[in-house]
Amino acid sequence: MNHINLLNEFVDKFGEGGDIRGYFTPGRVNLIGEYTDFNGGYVFPCGLTMGTYMVARKRADRKLYMYSMNFEKKGVVQSSLDEFVNGLEKNWTMYPKGVMWAFEEKGYPLTYGYDFLVYGNIPNGSGLSSSASLEVLTGIMLKDMNGTKDIDSRNGIDNSDSNDDIHGISLQDIALIGQFAENKYVGVNCGIMDQFAVAMAKKDYAIFLDTNNLSYKYVPLKLGKYKIVIISSNKKRSLADSKYNERRSECEQALALLQTRKKVSCLCDLTVADFNEIQDVIADDILLARAKHVIYENERTKNAVTALEINDIVEFGKLMNESHRSLRDDFEVTGVELDLLVQEAQKCEGVVGSRMTGAGFGGCTVSIVRDDCIDAFIEQVGKTYEEEIGYSADFYVAGVGDGAHKIDIDGVNYVE
Ligand code: GLA
Repeated sequence: MNHINLLNEFVDKFGEGGDIRGYFTPGRVNLIGEYTDFNGGYVFPCGLTMGTYMVARKRADRKLYMYSMNFEKKGVVQSSLDEFVNGLEKNWTMYPKGVMWAFEEKGYPLTYGYDFLVYGNIPNGSGLSSSASLEVLTGIMLKDMNGTKDIDSRNGIDNSDSNDDIHGISLQDIALIGQFAENKYVGVNCGIMDQFAVAMAKKDYAIFLDTNNLSYKYVPLKLGKYKIVIISSNKKRSLADSKYNERRSECEQALALLQTRKKVSCLCDLTVADFNEIQDVIADDILLARAKHVIYENERTKNAVTALEINDIVEFGKLMNESHRSLRDDFEVTGVELDLLVQEAQKCEGVVGSRMTGAGFGGCTVSIVRDDCIDAFIEQVGKTYEEEIGYSADFYVAGVGDGAHKIDIDGVNYVE
């Protein structure tokens, strides 16, 4: 896809006129801190310059007309604010509709429907949070469209009911509503990392987030002569959702056992030393390995952020490598494709660290690679992957970008 004018595309599908507005939300890559977020631990993601765009206009009725340029064949999908069917929709519209449903559930009723067009350049299902991106994107659109009383009288919309409560919600609230939609409408029991990251991201920074209380700090990604390289395995993540929910329930079972020995509210309340002292309470080897991953990963994440803050990129990379080993052997969420990508990456010159990122079971890896070695890295890892797996991987040198924001559709509406 070359240059696209999103406004033209919108007008082409939905016609001219009215108050048409544009929004953008990035994808994210998690540098370290995997499967810690629903265990009250630390994560360390950053926003990407790749993301999802939306062009929208409020309607005078309660209908929804939704079009995704990524699913052209589906055409314009028609629905309404009175047709929410939790867990039953299985196409891209479940994400925006889930968020609209979640707004209402959380006490922010919506009066009017929307025409909207979506276009994303995050590879779909790659584990770079294309769904969280679309959820938060819908959230900022709803906030913006309902936040002022003078939106658009040209459509015959009476904005005197414009919802001041919606106007007052923060980006963090929108992230939480997005997570609620994913948990209760889409049916994936995810933690808060992805929605928080894509809402709150900041160009050239990563977010060190404590998922226990949502306190966070931005840490500059001063990587010197190194870059973040993302590799998409292009493996279909078909069983990912059910396996994800299974891991979550295993963590809950392990926690219940550990709680009989120590008063804690989540796995990450335990230090590695605490865990080693009481781990014998877990007789089941699988549950023990799951808990071990989470508690050690939490410690690694804290140490990795400290390493980055003192410019010790080599130590940061080592911790990434250990993270992958633990996700492979103890948490068992990698698979041959991700393991091969990481193994080959770690062999390359100029690579300080490499690991899977996101939920796993396919999806992407993230590596820290020295500038002058990136071409050879892509060549070497790409070749071996294709030879052994039978299809190719895609490589992205990551641009670290800002979180959810409004865009000027009269100006910056060209994307590649
Ligand atoms: C997915 C989920 C997140 C998080 C990661 C694993 O991306 O959406 O909440 O649990 O997996 O770290």
